[in-house]
Amino acid sequence: MNLGARVRRARSSPENADAPSDAELLEVRGLVKRFGPVLALSGVDLTVAAGEVTALVGDNGAGKSVLIKTIAGIYQPDGGQIAWEGRPFQVHTPHDAARLGIQTVYQDLALADNLDIVQNMFLGRERTTAGLLDEDSMERSATQTLAGLSVTTVRSIRQPVASLSGGQRQAVAIARAVLWNSKLVIMDEPTASLGVAQTGMVLDLVRRLADRGLAVLIVSHNLNDVFEVATRIAVLHLGRMAATGPVSDFDAQKVVQYMTLGRAASPDGQTTPTQSEN
Ligand SMILES: Nc1ncnc2c1ncn2[C@@H]1O[C@H](COP(=O)(O)OP(=O)(O)OP(=O)(O)O)[C@@H](O)[C@H]1O
Ligand SMILES: [Mg+2]
Repeated sequence: MNLGARVRRARSSPENADAPSDAELLEVRGLVKRFGPVLALSGVDLTVAAGEVTALVGDNGAGKSVLIKTIAGIYQPDGGQIAWEGRPFQVHTPHDAARLGIQTVYQDLALADNLDIVQNMFLGRERTTAGLLDEDSMERSATQTLAGLSVTTVRSIRQPVASLSGGQRQAVAIARAVLWNSKLVIMDEPTASLGVAQTGMVLDLVRRLADRGLAVLIVSHNLNDVFEVATRIAVLHLGRMAATGPVSDFDAQKVVQYMTLGRAASPDGQTTPTQSEN
């Protein structure tokens, strides 16, 4: 079966049983990425579907950040294929990825501290009328987008983002992705430096993105977060995809086994073969 046909093939998970049959947005096949002698990704397969939250997990150095940066156009792959909406594509820059509808929310780099919320949400895509910034229109859209995501803790959309809490900063970065009509939002450790309440808020937002039909690919070390928010789990081990599947296929112990051993151990201590995609 060719790549496009596989992308269009029907598949649904118990959590999203009535998802459209062609919901796969992104399909990565055999992705290879080298840094000199280091083989960071050695033939990675990954499918990401609309309306699903896919958690990408793995031990330190497993290749999670390299994988998402390659999807986001920051790194060029040394091999393999990436298909977007059923068609092979190559992203050379983050701008190419953004044009397709792929937005990445990085933990610390997402926002310009000295700018306010509206300026951040429209950074690089400012609206103008007659050569002047259309502040009213941008304020209205920013307010609507935040309200649509039920972000209610921000006091003023004109406050500099430096004055926001970590969770609020994440919320602004996520709202920006929504405002720009992204189809896939990638998040690298979005809750790593957040407290319990703020983590809850960000996870709620992640769920709301999926409810709106966006695809979310979220990197996390926190298995509680993963089981709270993910509908699918993908486990990287030493640059290979050790297991992927609906969250109902996993429990925390199994995820840890795939993360540390690259395979799941059966109750008698034997290891089972690596689980394959789908
Ligand atoms: N720019 C780079 N140059 C050289 N090697 C790199 C580079 N980026 C990543 N690597 C290597 O690629 C491998 C995967 O790194 P990556 O950052 O993707 O890990 P990770 O899964 O995100 O880990 P962590 O959980 O610690 O963030 C590591 O061996 C790392 O040292
Ligand atoms: Mg990383």
